Amino acid sequence: MTSTPALQLRKAQHVVVFTGAGASAESGIPTFRDELTGLWERFDPAQLATSEAFRADPSLCWGWYEWRRHKVLQAQPNGAHLAIAELAMHVPKLTVVTQNVDDLHERAGSQDVIHLHGSLHSPRCIDCGLAHTLPLTSEAQPEDGSRIEPPRCSACDGYVRPGVVWFGEMLPEDAWGAGLAVAQECDVFLSIGTSGVVYPAAELPLRALGQGATVAHINPVRFDVSSQEHFLEGPASVMMQSLLREAFGNHPDS
Ligand code: OAD
Repeated sequence: MTSTPALQLRKAQHVVVFTGAGASAESGIPTFRDELTGLWERFDPAQLATSEAFRADPSLCWGWYEWRRHKVLQAQPNGAHLAIAELAMHVPKLTVVTQNVDDLHERAGSQDVIHLHGSLHSPRCIDCGLAHTLPLTSEAQPEDGSRIEPPRCSACDGYVRPGVVWFGEMLPEDAWGAGLAVAQECDVFLSIGTSGVVYPAAELPLRALGQGATVAHINPVRFDVSSQEHFLEGPASVMMQSLLREAFGNHPDS
């Protein structure tokens, strides 16, 4: 491999930034699979992240998502989110495809964001699907593990459920179609802060590589990648800011 991701970024027409929980880690939002700090170390996804779990114990499930939603409301975008938004100003087209259910990319200024796994901020009725609005302020942060009765749907009185994709559910069709399309047409694909084990999202870097895009992974924990891919080892904020500096040389932090 002779070229570097920074050189490719300079020439790129369309960049895709694919993010996972690690992109929000430096904002204080816990990841899922990191040892000790990952959510799935402390909580059982089968009790919280399936529709069966919600129907079996709506208050336990809603309480857990309310705890996470309030955490996000109180968090701020970090250097990685900001660098991604800034990168969009240097290239003709940039699409963010995120597995994250927070809104930190948007709050950092990214305009074109595809949410593959839904959003904590768009709950809907579990029975009729009607959208439900929740306040965008966080005065009282619930404790993790607290039970909170979910609101009721104004149309059918069903329970309101979190607007995220649960295990066993399909990804939103529009988002998946759009994510696949941009992976298949981009020339640089940056995969940031994801363990790459949850499908179908994890297929996107492979699709990008398959059609000839430059693929780079940013992660503080090294994992194996093919000889055609790049690995930039370090936290997302540091690596994104140094990539910006290397490619365009005028990042405000430089
Ligand atoms: P994971 O928790 O599986 O992986 C997070 C990754 O971020 C790991 O590879 C960490 O090494 C890395 N990481 C940690 N801190 C970082 C930092 N400061 N900078 C960069 N990387 C860092 O999270 P995801 O891959 O996003 O699904 O998980 C995929 C899906 O599994 C999630 O969307 C969620 C979960 O079940 C749904 O909610 C549907």
